[in-house]
Amino acid sequence: MRIAMIGAGYVGLVSGACFADFGHGVVCIDTDPAKIAALEAGRMPIYEPGLEALVAENVRQGRLAFRTELREAVAEADAVFIAVGTPSRRGDGFADLSFVHAAARAIAGALTGFTVVVTKSTVPVGTGDEVERIIREANPQADVAVASNPEFLREGAAIADFKRPDRIVVGAEDPRAVAVLNEIYRPLYLNQAPILVTGRRTAELTKYAANAFLATKITFINEIADLCEQVGADVQQVARGIGLDNRIGRKFLHAGPGYGGSCFPKDTLALVKTAQDYATPMRIVETVVAVNESRKRAMARKVIAACGGAVRGKTIALLGLTFKPNTDDMRDAPSLAIVAGLQDAGARVQAYDPEGMEQARPLLGDVAYASDPYACAEGADALVLVTEWDAFRALDFTRLRERMAQPVLVDLRNVYRPQDIQARGFRYVSVGRPD
Ligand code: UGA
Repeated sequence: MRIAMIGAGYVGLVSGACFADFGHGVVCIDTDPAKIAALEAGRMPIYEPGLEALVAENVRQGRLAFRTELREAVAEADAVFIAVGTPSRRGDGFADLSFVHAAARAIAGALTGFTVVVTKSTVPVGTGDEVERIIREANPQADVAVASNPEFLREGAAIADFKRPDRIVVGAEDPRAVAVLNEIYRPLYLNQAPILVTGRRTAELTKYAANAFLATKITFINEIADLCEQVGADVQQVARGIGLDNRIGRKFLHAGPGYGGSCFPKDTLALVKTAQDYATPMRIVETVVAVNESRKRAMARKVIAACGGAVRGKTIALLGLTFKPNTDDMRDAPSLAIVAGLQDAGARVQAYDPEGMEQARPLLGDVAYASDPYACAEGADALVLVTEWDAFRALDFTRLRERMAQPVLVDLRNVYRPQDIQARGFRYVSVGRPD
């Protein structure tokens, strides 16, 4: 199949490279010439394990190309995927669809022969209808079917998630669109990934429901963690105790500083807004949004409490800044609120992150960046583990303690066994576990 992928961001680039790796011919198009030039030179605009090699190999094999102009690729394509950004709109939190609409307009004039236009970006219910209206208005002769095919990959595990998905959701009313998408996903036959064919609106809502449910699960366990701290229970054991029930499931029950990233915060807000627009408020999701927002700031208060109630003039060292490991993504990272909270309370902040410091710099004012975890701990009154990078698991805590002013470790991801850290002379505070 010939595929045009509009948007070379996270979803577009990973999907495009993986489709090419399955043997399809893919052209990724982005209006940003600097991004396309970098990709052509083999430089990735994001940090994602395995992506650079995957892109290089498929470019070498002639299956993957990058362009700023969509006309030729769209004209030749069996399917055109729209994978442009849908950021939260300022003010009301609703998804900003201007990039999706602009892509639809640009595609319309370039279509030749039967083509399936597929929204892969996370888009609110009814966006497929809107994309179809825009295309038909701009090009009434176009032989086109518009489908929804939401993407469920996670940053940091994007290639594996794309290639081995739990399911594929295809929302399309036109059987010709279903046939093309079945052919595009045929390489996944071996993985026995079910392809769910639904109506377009159902597919669009499924994506939001999935992210909102996962965000709810995380927020639920985070509140249980708070209660554990008060009653002397251990949230990790509670999570295991409930997660072994198949109806609940073990994943996404890891308590922490609150969810962040480019998806959960944006998608939960957009779902809340859609539900309000249709006069069917989703009170659970509204509460999840509010609880998660206040939790990030509460983590700064947790650190302050671990430092004896005040951090004015003290030095706090943060390990990890990105919203999760294996990415350089700082969007809605809990570290942003934690740093602000600590600085407001008068602390000096120093930080280290294996990949995220460049992205963090413009977002965090007045932070001293260290070249490694040990330099980061220098002179600190507390060390705070914010993001659970693998490289932090086997740190030498004796070496760290020797460099610190006070041996205090606040572990916001429950990475360590309390006795291991305490045995090395630390006061150890974690999330939802007895001190
Ligand atoms: C999420 C979904 O997991 C993907 O399925 C979806 O495709 C994607 O959003 C999207 O809509 O594009 P992602 O944001 O990359 O993926 O990252 P996750 O691994 O889901 O983590 C999200 C946040 O939840 C992180 O801040 C993470 O630290 C937090 N989290 C996750 C927890 O605090 N506890 C957990 O148990 C799991």
